[in-house]
Amino acid sequence: MSRNIVWHNAAVSHTERQHRNGHQPCLLWYTGLSGSGKSTIANAVDRLLFDLGCHTYLLDGDNVRHGLNGDLGFDDASRVENIRRITEVSRLMLDAGLIVGTAFISPFIADRAQAKALAGSAFIEVFVDTPLSICEQRDPKGLYKKARAGEIAHFTGISSPYEAPTSPDIHLQTAALSIEQAARQVISLLQQRGILC
Ligand code: PPS
Repeated sequence: MSRNIVWHNAAVSHTERQHRNGHQPCLLWYTGLSGSGKSTIANAVDRLLFDLGCHTYLLDGDNVRHGLNGDLGFDDASRVENIRRITEVSRLMLDAGLIVGTAFISPFIADRAQAKALAGSAFIEVFVDTPLSICEQRDPKGLYKKARAGEIAHFTGISSPYEAPTSPDIHLQTAALSIEQAARQVISLLQQRGILC
C-alpha cells in the first residue's frame, strides 16, 4: 500500500443503503469447473433477483477477462491475481449495497477463503458441482478438446488443479437439477438468511 493515504468515512451509511434497496448486500460466489454451468445458473439467479426488484450485479470470468483482467493468463499466479482483483471489486459492490454474483472457476481454496475473509457473513459459496466427465462431454467452447490435444496449457481439470469446496453454503449437483431448480435453491437460501425481505 502507498504511504500518506488516509481512509475517508462515507457520508451515506450501509444501513441507509439497505433501507433504500430493501435487501441486504451479499456475495454469491459461484465456483466450479469450466463448462460446469456457473454462468448459466448465476445469470438465472440474477434474473430472478432483478425481477424481484433487487439491486444486483454479476461479474463473469470470461467477461471480466475481456477488460479489467485482460492482462492475465491461466498460470497459478495469474489465477490468484484474477481472484484477488475480483474480490476487491466485489467488496466495493457490497459496499454499494448490491447483491453481487461472481462466476469464476476460482480453483484455489485459499483464494476463496480470502474472499470470505473480506466479505464476512455476506459471503455465500455456491459449488456448481458438475463432474469433469460431464463438462468434457458438453465442451460448449471446444476448450477441453483443445486442452486434451495439448493446444491449451494449464487447463483446469486437465493440466491445472481444481480444489473443490469442502463445506459450501450451497452444493448444486447439476447432473440432477434443472437450471430453474438450481436457481430456486439459491433464492431460497437468501430468503432463509433474511437477505431478501
Ligand atoms: S480462474 O481460474 O478463476 O482464474 O478462471 P476464470 O477467470 O473463471 O476464467 C475461466 C474461463 O476462461 C476460459 N479459459 C480457461 N479456463 C480454464 N483453464 C484455462 N486454461 C482456460 N483458458 C481459457 C474458459 O472459457 C473459462 O470459462 P468457463 O465459463 O469457466 O467455462
